[in-house]
Amino acid sequence: MDMTAVLDDVTMPTYRRWPVEFLSGEGAWLRDTSGDRYLDLMAGIAVASVGHCHPKVTAAISSQAASLVHVSNLFLTRPQAELAGGLADMTGGMKAFFGNSGAEAVECAIKLARRWGGSRRTIVAAEKGFHGRTLGALAATGQLDKQEPFEPLPLGFEHVPYDDIPALEAALDDEVCAVILEVIQGEAGVLVPQSGYLTEVRRLCIEAGVLLILDEIQTGLGRTGRLFAYEHEGVAPDILCLGKALAGGLPMGACLARPEIADAFQLGDHGSTFGGGPVPSSAAIAVLEVIDEEGLCERAKVAGERLMKGLEAIAPHGSVVRGMGAMIGLELPDGGARSVVEACLERKVLVNDIGDKVVRFVPPLVISDDEIDHGLGKLEEVFDAI
Ligand SMILES: Cc1ncc(COP(=O)(O)O)c(C=O)c1O
Repeated sequence: MDMTAVLDDVTMPTYRRWPVEFLSGEGAWLRDTSGDRYLDLMAGIAVASVGHCHPKVTAAISSQAASLVHVSNLFLTRPQAELAGGLADMTGGMKAFFGNSGAEAVECAIKLARRWGGSRRTIVAAEKGFHGRTLGALAATGQLDKQEPFEPLPLGFEHVPYDDIPALEAALDDEVCAVILEVIQGEAGVLVPQSGYLTEVRRLCIEAGVLLILDEIQTGLGRTGRLFAYEHEGVAPDILCLGKALAGGLPMGACLARPEIADAFQLGDHGSTFGGGPVPSSAAIAVLEVIDEEGLCERAKVAGERLMKGLEAIAPHGSVVRGMGAMIGLELPDGGARSVVEACLERKVLVNDIGDKVVRFVPPLVISDDEIDHGLGKLEEVFDAI
């Protein structure tokens, strides 16, 4: 059966899929229908941080699925309470709202900031930033090509250049209730701001009395070498958005907020039928335990350094390699990122392209040195052929 044709016939044409059908995964590896193994250096776009089918996560999902899958948020469930408790411990006591995706975490953050802000409604975001595809998150996203076809978008968003403190300062007038930023701009091509940027942003937000919302949907949960990327600068947000790796591949997003801000929400202000259900919550508890038990923050740092050094050594002349921990972008001087991805796929290595110029590496954090070297060997073949 030609799955590409089947999927194209019955699903909306929003994705360009590579013609590979995967059947199983283990650690940093995936296996396709022909039995071929692929080294995964993209982790389902920064999701499979603890690796594919980690036994502890699989066991948590299976055992929860065998006892209770759904009751709604109108009743008590232990996994959600345990997960929220764990996240509170990790964030200095933040309170959680659970949804089913990163975009939903951002939607919750926007609503909460506006509820907290009262008559102050404007949210300042960064150009090139990415916060999701739902209309509110899209309004926060600073990419006109993604926004324009779907206008009118919700009002009350203003965009300033990323990594530009004077521009942010100028935007913080008395209409603003919050600033939303990624700590590293992932979908823009893994753009890392200058050191000290976040510290200055935090200072400005305090001075202006506005909330700082950090979108750590991609950078969070160990990927950059710390549990949260904001820890690199020793600052903390007022509202924190998580998703992607949180439930090990099950759909889950979380919006966390300092209690005095979270308590601006009133009964009925927000909701989600599935959010924080027993199965994704159990998976997320297991993911957080694995990150801790297996030292995956440190592993992200060490593995990321090895991968980055290796890429610097083999990338075509004029390339720029940037990132933090196991979140790396390789910008090619002459573009052609998609052909690099394709040539890697032919050699059974998965990476992904951002625009025409950037190849992104966000491998599972459990990846071993040998696996990284295997990937680098294949990439070297690809670059040699350019
Ligand atoms: C920083 C950031 N925010 C939000 C999102 C949206 O997450 P989701 O696709 O789960 O809605 C993404 C997804 O790539 C992201 O990278």
